Amino acid sequence: MYRPIAEIHLDRLIRNYRKIQNYVEDALVLPVIKANAYGHGLVRVAKALQEEGVTFFSVFTLGSAIKLRENGISGNILIFSRFTKDLLQLAVEFDITLSIACKDDIQLLIDFIQKTEKCPKVHLKVDTGMSRLGIDYDEVQTILEQLKVHPEIHLEGIYSHFATADEGDPSYAELQLRRFSEVVKLSKQLGLPIKYYHIANSGAVLNLPESFFNLVRVGMLMYGAYPSDETSECIEVEPVMSFKAPIVLVRHVKAGIPVSYGSVYAPDSDSYIGVVQAGFVDGVPRNWFERGYVGYQGKTYKIAGRICMDQFMANFGDEKPQIGDDVLIFGDDGTNRIPIEVIASDINLTPYVLMSTIGGRTERVYINNGEC
Ligand SMILES: Cc1ncc(COP(=O)(O)O)c(C=O)c1O
Repeated sequence: MYRPIAEIHLDRLIRNYRKIQNYVEDALVLPVIKANAYGHGLVRVAKALQEEGVTFFSVFTLGSAIKLRENGISGNILIFSRFTKDLLQLAVEFDITLSIACKDDIQLLIDFIQKTEKCPKVHLKVDTGMSRLGIDYDEVQTILEQLKVHPEIHLEGIYSHFATADEGDPSYAELQLRRFSEVVKLSKQLGLPIKYYHIANSGAVLNLPESFFNLVRVGMLMYGAYPSDETSECIEVEPVMSFKAPIVLVRHVKAGIPVSYGSVYAPDSDSYIGVVQAGFVDGVPRNWFERGYVGYQGKTYKIAGRICMDQFMANFGDEKPQIGDDVLIFGDDGTNRIPIEVIASDINLTPYVLMSTIGGRTERVYINNGEC
């Protein structure tokens, strides 16, 4: 059956992970595998990392964390999303670590402990400048003092999140880092027994080495892409995903005859046009056609006209491609390399969006050292 394929190279994932772990030295790499491991497949990615010795993972929802447990992932799992009262019992049962996102969460924990005499592990999230989840930076002292008098709350970590660590101008990230360092200092002065302090994401791993503390949360870099074109490339990574799709029909189109919706494109000379079975519903970025291209047998060919919902066309010029062969949309297939970052920058998106929206009819095929 014709369908797009996302080849997931688990050996590349592990090599990237090892390089990052070596680079951050004594800090522990906490792989971020939320959003279906950024489109790479939650369970397979977690299992590969667990085999490599990873013992701490992070996801966004409790549902993903439970799915990991049900599939044999035994390490710590931190969830980033805001929890609700009804999830506390499940968090205890499945040994999931929760994030405290605001003052009210602490009261929920206290009430739960009073009722059940149990408490899930928690990390306190501090908002140092992202204005998303987290205790207000100004209120941290009061909150830490409150947590000090409630040792029954199993506070294992304190963390924050950068808004601009992948940008060339480091000033705002440095401000966030100074604030976070103050919080760390305060918690130590209060004698709170905190095991993990963390704020660094991929951008910070590359741009802000002083932000590692004893744990770094890494997503994008581990999947083999740089979060933006303003980060250092001091760690060389390989793209884990190769997104491909089959040519299902080849037609010979005369010069000047329009191809695809809107008739905005026509070949300059008589050309072989391949119809490729993948469209924007599968994750092919709809805007990647003006300067967009695909890889085929070591060469690149222009995308011909607008990407449709289920298909798109590519101009092979005088060369007649083989029906049934795959073209490379992004990634590295050994003969072509099309970095996802190039597409992202051309169409003004981030690799985060491109990667995590691969879906539709796309089949994920897992490859380890060249074997499925
Ligand atoms: C709270 C949190 N930590 C870490 C990360 C990982 O970020 P990155 O993929 O840039 O490493 C994310 C991703 O958005 C996140 O939301």
